[in-house]
Amino acid sequence: MEMKAMAPNCGVEISGVDLAHCSDSEMQAIKQAIYEHGVAVFRDQEFSPEDHIAFAKRWGGIDINNYFPLTEQHPEIAVVKKEADQSTNIGGAWHTDHSYDQIPAMGSILVARDLPPSGGDTEWAHMGAAYDALPDDLKAEIEGLEAFHTADHVYKADGLYAQTDMGSSLRGQDLKTGAIHPVVIRHPHTGRKLLYVNSAFTIHFVGKTREESLPLLQRLYDAALTADNQCRLQWKPGTVAIWDNRTTWHNAMNDYQGYRREMHRITLSGEALAA
Ligand code: SIN
Repeated sequence: MEMKAMAPNCGVEISGVDLAHCSDSEMQAIKQAIYEHGVAVFRDQEFSPEDHIAFAKRWGGIDINNYFPLTEQHPEIAVVKKEADQSTNIGGAWHTDHSYDQIPAMGSILVARDLPPSGGDTEWAHMGAAYDALPDDLKAEIEGLEAFHTADHVYKADGLYAQTDMGSSLRGQDLKTGAIHPVVIRHPHTGRKLLYVNSAFTIHFVGKTREESLPLLQRLYDAALTADNQCRLQWKPGTVAIWDNRTTWHNAMNDYQGYRREMHRITLSGEALAA
């Protein structure tokens, strides 16, 4: 198995491994690489929906997403899809999946199933590198803070995703998401400090209003995105990406209007977060 960095501080491309048939020691090395680099990319994989589910079960538990349309045969798989005539894509802004859950998902395994001729890349940003690069006064300002996260504004029936395929599965659901997490968490496996706020789901600091929180949140978001801590993936048929949601933000580019894109995603269960 070979590993090649995708950017100085984010992402790794792993070659020489067949994900569907990898050994236990390869699985361990893949996990460790993802915990450290945030995201790993694998090319030219033969990875059927059954392989996808079996690999996720070997990793650990699967979080079933209540809002995405699921395939009937494979309820573990969320279909992340944009049709040629739709304009809003799913995940088209920097975010961390499931930060609004009490126990946020560990990560996701995303498989390319139908790609536009160009565009539709995905970007990730490393929140360990982002935290390390914060100036000392900003680190001191966020020390010990907690923040409230929710997705209700995104997933409500007339919310951001109303015009996507998700819209139909959202209608009629009783939406109540919300969780409080430390603003700086420690990675459960590496112990590294990670900035754990994101502009999609973090609403306010505990003890402050949204208006009071926004200036500091915006300073953190601006500081978090540097060229060195971001990587970008150009998908090809057979590409699989696995990322750690605690370590990274991600952003799905919406630049392929008039073409269809379909990805299959399995969300991996996480563990409680702590400072
Ligand atoms: C997501 O999980 O946010 C979607 C990522 C993508 O479609 O590239």
